[in-house]
Order: sequence, then C-alpha cells, then structure tokens
Amino acid sequence: MLGLRGMSADSLRALLGSTGRMLAHASYPGDVLETLAGRTVATVFFENSTRTRGSFTLAAQRLGAGVVDFSNANSTAKGESLADTVRTVSAMGVDAIVVRSSRSGASICAAAATQVPVLNGGDGCHEHPTQGLLDAFTLCEAIGRLDGFDLSGVRVAIVGDVLHSRVARSGAAALQSLGATVELVGPGPLVPESMGALLNDAGSIERDFDAAIGRADAVMMLRVQFERGAAVASTYRERYALTRERALRLREGAVVMHPGPMNVGMEIDAEVADGSGLARGARSLVLRQVAVGVAVRMAALEWCLGGVGACRP
Ligand code: NCD
Repeated sequence: MLGLRGMSADSLRALLGSTGRMLAHASYPGDVLETLAGRTVATVFFENSTRTRGSFTLAAQRLGAGVVDFSNANSTAKGESLADTVRTVSAMGVDAIVVRSSRSGASICAAAATQVPVLNGGDGCHEHPTQGLLDAFTLCEAIGRLDGFDLSGVRVAIVGDVLHSRVARSGAAALQSLGATVELVGPGPLVPESMGALLNDAGSIERDFDAAIGRADAVMMLRVQFERGAAVASTYRERYALTRERALRLREGAVVMHPGPMNVGMEIDAEVADGSGLARGARSLVLRQVAVGVAVRMAALEWCLGGVGACRP
C-alpha cells in the first residue's frame, strides 16, 4: 500500500468498509482478533512519528500479530541504503514492513527491494495512504456518509502547506475519488499553481481562506512543515490560520480536521482544535481522526497480509 492516487474507488470503499468493521475492536484493547496470529509486522521509521507508528503497532497487536520496531536501526546513518535495510529486515522473516522516510517516493524503492508487502507510513512529500483513508472515513462518519462512502456534493477545503504535505496528496486523491470537491487554500509559495495537478475538474485553488470557509463542509488544516523548508510570511496567521474568530465563519455543522501534530497558535487555535471555541454545531474531529487511525491500519494490514476474513477488493 504505497499510495491512494490511482487506487480505484471500489478498493477505497472496501478498505473503508473494513475500517468500520474494525472500529469496535480498535477501541477495546482487550478484544484481540486473531486474524494475523503468528504473523510479524516490522516498523521501519526514519522520521519522527507518534500517531502513525503507534497506531500501526496497536493495529498489528489487535489483530494478533507480533511487531518488531527497527526505527532505531542506525544502519542508514552508517551508509546503508533504505533498500538494503528493507532487504535485511525481510531476510529475518517478517510478513509486512511499514516504512516512513523523509524521501519522497522512498516507499516505492522499499517495495521494489522486497517481496514482503510494504505499507507506506509517509514518504517525504509523496503519499501517506493510511492518513488519507482515516481522513476519508472520519469525514464520512461525521457527516453521515458511512453508507456507501459517497461524498458527492461535499466540499472540503485543504488549507496551508499543501506543497510539502503527503497528507494533502493522499487526502485529495481519496476524497475526490469518493466524490468530494476539493479546494486547496493557501499562499502562492505553499500552494503553487502546479498543485492543481492534485485536483480533478471540479477542484480549485483559492487564495482567500475567508471565501473558502463560507463554502466548506469540512476544513482540513495542515501543519506548516518547517523541517521540509516551508517559509511563511508574517501575515500567514492572519490570512491562513483557523483562529477562533475565523472559525465563527464555519458553516452550520461544518467539521474541522488536522492530521497532527499541530502548531497550535500558528495554523490553528487551541479552542478550535479541541472544539470548545466552535459555534453553530461545528465540530472538531482531531481526536476522532486519531482513534479511527488504529482501525484504518488494522484494515490496511489485513488487506496487505490477507488475514483470515480479510477484505480483498
Ligand atoms: C503527518 C505526517 O507525518 O505526514 N502527520 C501524521 O502522520 N499524523 C502530518 C504532519 O507531519 O504534519
């Protein structure tokens, strides 16, 4: 599972359906399914991660699989390539490898180096497929579209550092495939016109957040990724943050999302992220996204490993 771009809508819906069935088990640690009993999942994270690594680990455990973490392996620091690290981990006899790297497309190189299924836990600015799936599921759940996962007529504004965001790339692919209309919102340096390549004919780039917010059923805020070289003007917060004041413009019942980690006070205010500062039935889904993340990764692991009862579209 390397990316969502090009994945069929049928496959997306099958994975989301499987996520729904996993949710009950994902929330109760004592309730371990045994569909991946005897299997071993390796996590190889060459970038920091709290949610993705933690939820892949919990997901594997809740399906009865063992987990071995190679994230502290310093062989790449000694000059070993990612491909060699992946071959080494494969040679130990694992059943799936979850990879995260700062290099765009690293998951493709990893998958080419091994017969073992590779799951992309985020590779540079390329893709973050399980995040895209969890965002799609969380949105469908919040607005009552679980039946059929059809997002026709739903407008999603993806706001901020789109240029450096693998979350935006995977999210835009999944949401549009399910029928949503996506607007990319941000300043020219973070949402260059070339980002239009992520959009279908219905999608658009918008520089005016206040205009976009008045149309959006969901606002997905992105972290400004300073570690990938993002630079912002002194007016960034004023123009592109989801502040408490700006959140008052959210439509009735609109939802706020953020993949985390958040630069609180930069792209989003604390009272918006925790929902306490929202009005008119608007809701924050930030923690629900995290909870759904475990179920999505259970579905993704079963899909890739073909566990008993696996959903294989
Ligand atoms: C994202 C990531 O790592 O791409 N976080 C995550 O997986 N929850 C987004 C980010 O780091 O801003």
